Amino acid sequence: MPSENYAGKIAIIGAGPVGISAARALKAVGIAYDQFEAESDLGGNWRHGVYKNAHIISSRKTTEFPDFPMPAHYPDFPSAAQMLAYLESYAEHYQLREHISFNYLVERVSAEADLWLLQFNGGESRLYSGVVVCNGHHWSRRWPHYEGKFSGEMIHSKDYKDAEQLKNKRVLVIGGGNSACDIAAEAARVAKSAHLCLRRGYWFLPKTVFGKPTAEMLTTALPVWLQRIYIATLLKIIVGDYRQYGLARPDHKIFEKHPTINSELLHYLKHGRITPHPDIKQFDGNSVEFADGRKEDFDLIVCGTGFNVSMPFLDPDLVTIEGSVVKAQWGLVAPHHKQLYLYGWGQARYGFGPLLTPASDLLAKLILLQKRLRHPLGEILEKINQPLPASHLIDPMRALRQIKAANAMLWLLPLVDKYLMSSKVKVEEVVNKLQMESEPAPGND
Ligand SMILES: Cc1cc2nc3c(=O)[nH]c(=O)nc-3n(C[C@H](O)[C@H](O)[C@H](O)COP(=O)(O)OP(=O)(O)OC[C@H]3O[C@@H](n4cnc5c(N)ncnc54)[C@H](O)[C@@H]3O)c2cc1C
Ligand SMILES: NC(=O)c1ccc[n+]([C@@H]2O[C@H](COP(=O)([O-])OP(=O)(O)OC[C@H]3O[C@@H](n4cnc5c(N)ncnc54)[C@H](OP(=O)(O)O)[C@@H]3O)[C@@H](O)[C@H]2O)c1
Repeated sequence: MPSENYAGKIAIIGAGPVGISAARALKAVGIAYDQFEAESDLGGNWRHGVYKNAHIISSRKTTEFPDFPMPAHYPDFPSAAQMLAYLESYAEHYQLREHISFNYLVERVSAEADLWLLQFNGGESRLYSGVVVCNGHHWSRRWPHYEGKFSGEMIHSKDYKDAEQLKNKRVLVIGGGNSACDIAAEAARVAKSAHLCLRRGYWFLPKTVFGKPTAEMLTTALPVWLQRIYIATLLKIIVGDYRQYGLARPDHKIFEKHPTINSELLHYLKHGRITPHPDIKQFDGNSVEFADGRKEDFDLIVCGTGFNVSMPFLDPDLVTIEGSVVKAQWGLVAPHHKQLYLYGWGQARYGFGPLLTPASDLLAKLILLQKRLRHPLGEILEKINQPLPASHLIDPMRALRQIKAANAMLWLLPLVDKYLMSSKVKVEEVVNKLQMESEPAPGND
């Protein structure tokens, strides 16, 4: 089947929160685009990726799009159903549905001269002028590996949908993240027995502090070292020593890992409804041996062991993905190709809305700007020594400053494109002279 030509248009892959936010921004500035969603409807994880009883950990305020607030009657921690209804109304408000093709799985994206060739599951292929990848980063299951074989049922948290799956079973949950803790707490309510296996000590933050969602405390403009002292002090008072709950002390600083925000875990540990364990040593039939030599039989193991960042349809030479880090300029721009954007793969300790709205507006500006430039934006940003991201963890306040700094730098990029790409001038010196903001770029934590 010959490829249809959609040159002049941008293709957006995915219609989760990131994809619809990008679509809103492109539409606002008049960029022609088509959006492709593998599922039969929009909403991403909030339609098909989270369990029925999930409530957000980030709060309503830190998750709503600032340009489209959540309904006033929503609680501080909306449910998965409320989140989906909100995303549907966002798409309705901005009339985004008409540009989305559902049940369109993008199987391959490759560069074809100055266009992008997209191949779909149905055998169709199309050429576009640009691609914005918003395929999400909570779907490619990360499995743990152990000696021996477990003969009971073993699932990933991604496959956990409903408390019925845990009912009357001896359940072991692996992991110290938000998925593992939510599922362990649900198991404490409905399972025959609930156990949690943690391979290190973690910081478990309560969902509220001083009656306010903890996520809202993380929006402070205080430097991270001061936030750490502040939160550690609060935790000393509210929680105390984690060893009093049968847990190990955290072996890292707060925010060196994505925070786990859960008020139920410590509660159920103290009630004896969840039994903590160290790492797993080996399996033998239904029996699990832990690192401390203790053995226990289980019917079901739920691996809350997280996800891999994956963009399997991209030709590997387009961008490097190292662990969870996509090596894109400003966390967004493909390093050597025009009009390819890798969007939304970072992990903010915050909700998505307040970051996505300004980031999507920046994305739209970059698409318009690239049309006027001879060189790929990624190479221009490299020329002015913008560092590639070193981590997938995003400090929300820092990211917002970085987006502001990136916007302030846009005027410079056409000048670099025109005069400096082939010169040996040290652009850094020029930039310093112009007293540009020296803040690193979005996503470059
Ligand atoms: C249990 C759970 C709870 C969470 N709680 C919170 C929270 O409290 N606050 C918060 O901010 N975030 C939370 N998250 C994170 C959540 O992933 C984000 O809120 C948000 O859904 C990410 O949006 P996204 O668009 O990047 O990805 P997704 O929501 O995953 O959407 C990506 C979309 O792209 C589509 N797609 C993927 N590949 C292709 C392809 N090849 N072709 C076409 N379409 C494709 C998918 O079908 C999907 O619809 C939670 C996640 C989980 C798993
Ligand atoms: N209610 C909610 O709002 C909610 C619920 C669930 C998830 N979420 C969000 O969804 C995203 C994904 O969360 P997640 O919890 O699924 O993943 P995650 O944050 O990546 O956590 C994975 C956990 O598994 C552990 N782990 C990984 N490999 C392991 C192994 N081999 N053995 C033992 N432990 C291992 C990790 O510990 P190490 O640190 O040691 O690697 C970490 O504690 C996050 O953004 C989270 O906030 C939100």
